[in-house]
Amino acid sequence: SDFLRIGVAGLGTVGAGTVRLLQDNAALIRARTGRRLQVVAVSARDRRRDRGLDLSGIAWHDDPVALAANPDVDVICELIGGADGPALDLTLAALEGGKPVVTANKAMLALHGERLAGLAERRGAALCFEAAVAGGIPVIKALREGLAANRIERVYGILNGTSNYILSTMQETGREFADVLSEAQALGYAEADPSFDVDGIDAAHKLALLAALAYGVAPRFDQIHIEGIRHVSALDIALADELGYRIKLLGTVRYTEAGLEQRLHPAMVRKDAPIAEVDGVFNAVVIEGDRVGSVMLQGRGAGAGPTASAVTADLIDIARGIRFPVFGVPASDLLTVTSAPLSTH
Ligand code: NDP
Ligand code: HSE
Repeated sequence: SDFLRIGVAGLGTVGAGTVRLLQDNAALIRARTGRRLQVVAVSARDRRRDRGLDLSGIAWHDDPVALAANPDVDVICELIGGADGPALDLTLAALEGGKPVVTANKAMLALHGERLAGLAERRGAALCFEAAVAGGIPVIKALREGLAANRIERVYGILNGTSNYILSTMQETGREFADVLSEAQALGYAEADPSFDVDGIDAAHKLALLAALAYGVAPRFDQIHIEGIRHVSALDIALADELGYRIKLLGTVRYTEAGLEQRLHPAMVRKDAPIAEVDGVFNAVVIEGDRVGSVMLQGRGAGAGPTASAVTADLIDIARGIRFPVFGVPASDLLTVTSAPLSTH
């Protein structure tokens, strides 16, 4: 029909940002898709909280899982967060019922991605997650579509806006880690549990998803070598600076004869490398393909507008009737691979 009826679960930074985008850019999206993308139902914890949104005429569910059963809802946006709990319950219920799901939830996909991809494909429902990796940067589409003809040699990048904001503010001001964290939280970039950001867990969730798309492997978060930025001091940053380097929290994945190497840790990058200049909430992802060479994408990795941009791009695919294999290959063909020992470069 003319309408794509959307149920949004979670009205925090990303959920409210998505509802606002769909309302503000409704005419433009209609012109591009030939359809009206309309939010018809929502769910969050606190019904009375003022979210600065016009929710008139929109149904409210206290239980987000009820969105999956609402016959007026064609597609679910899961924007609650958390690997398990209501986010997973809702996603399972929606896919089980053949309803497409758009999610920004990298934790859920990094831990349950293989199972969810299998279910989505069996039920013929789309499961889309552009917003789950690097916020507004269309990196999932780049790997799955634009670079689909390439053998991928390596993918690396800055995958967490909060920790990049902390490191670059420490660099700029000489302040210590603990001082800067609360500032990043106040900006709405941090995860519900900010240790996910500073201990590298959030970036590793994203790396597991990039690895899946780059190499056709089932996401294996448990096999990633992870070190966060908690122990990086203002002095480390100043010394690196004197030597001509910046310290960045980098995720890298590559596939070698020894297996899949997935690593996430603070790294020294030369100041003249383009990625060294990616500061604040910005993320960057470099994809090296055997035919295209090196492609670097950069943009805002968190925040309401950029993340809503990615969520809505997935909704637009669904409105256009486009469905891709969740991780770029049929779920039943996802490989289980062994981890390579960490190399020194
Ligand atoms: P917030 O904490 O801002 O929002 C979470 C929302 O979920 C809130 O509206 C909350 O309700 C609602 N919620 C929580 N538990 C329940 C429940 N049991 N039932 C119904 N609703 C519930 O999170 P974000 O918007 O920041 O993040 C959402 C997702 O997007 C996460 O998966 C996150 O990792 C991901 N993400 C976030 C980005 C960002 O920049 N913030 C960027 C990219 C991805 P209430 O408002 O009533 O408390
Ligand atoms: N907390 C995440 C970040 C949100 O800071 O990058 C975007 O995924």
